[in-house]
Amino acid sequence: MSALVLGATGFVGREVVRQLCVRGTKTVAHVRPDSSKLETWRTTFGSLGASVDTTPWEAPALAARIRELDPAQIYILIGTTRSRAKADAVAGDIYEKVDLGLTELTVAAAKAAERKPRLVYLSSVGAGRGARSAYLSARGKAEDVIRASGLPWVIARPSIITGEREEGRLGEKSAAVVGDGLLAVAGMFGGRKLRDRYRSTSPDVLASALIRLGEAPQHDRVLDGSDLR
Ligand SMILES: NC(=O)c1ccc[n+]([C@@H]2O[C@H](COP(=O)([O-])OP(=O)(O)OC[C@H]3O[C@@H](n4cnc5c(N)ncnc54)[C@H](OP(=O)(O)O)[C@@H]3O)[C@@H](O)[C@H]2O)c1
Repeated sequence: MSALVLGATGFVGREVVRQLCVRGTKTVAHVRPDSSKLETWRTTFGSLGASVDTTPWEAPALAARIRELDPAQIYILIGTTRSRAKADAVAGDIYEKVDLGLTELTVAAAKAAERKPRLVYLSSVGAGRGARSAYLSARGKAEDVIRASGLPWVIARPSIITGEREEGRLGEKSAAVVGDGLLAVAGMFGGRKLRDRYRSTSPDVLASALIRLGEAPQHDRVLDGSDLR
């Protein structure tokens, strides 16, 4: 069994790579070719037993690579943030361009590769094309692209993913602490479903759930917080 991980350098992606390697899956960690930390990632992923792929974000090149690798799963764990988009000089609607755009590109490449990988898509609670937030709307559109791909798929919709990040993200941590506190109270007063759906999760718990969903016999399903633990 082999797996291709897109967004391998992310908070969740690197944990998915680690856990896949522990399980003995032949793991290919995609790193953008122009990454300033490419050599560090080669060392990190190499020490885990994964190989690093630097195929450019272009559909024909990615299709050729997918055809060659024939992965059982493609994990799509990609997304930008305001600060990352600024550093990447992405202008306009950054979520449409990166979160949606790279998902569209991946699906087009996977279809052109004429292979049947399962797409494991990391979305977000609240995603929907009609959502007010640009981020959640782009995520909803990306989910639609995954569903319409004609390939087997699973979509995970976690709430906040928290833990020790290099870049801090104080807002994310505070939201997790406050949100989990309120949800604990809701849980005590009978709001267990609400609590389980919206409480925060960690990269290791989420990575293990994503791999479980990637390898399970069932597919074409959307899972939320309560299914991701
Ligand atoms: N964090 C949360 O609380 C949360 C909650 C629910 C859903 N999600 C979603 O889950 C996904 C993964 O979360 P995460 O916390 O692991 O994210 P993360 O740490 O920010 O990682 C994002 C990944 O996307 C890649 N990426 C970003 N912009 C790119 C671009 N322009 N071109 C190519 N690659 C690009 C990054 O590559 P580089 O390292 O090279 O920049 C990295 O591998 C995100 O898309 C997020 O929207 C997050």
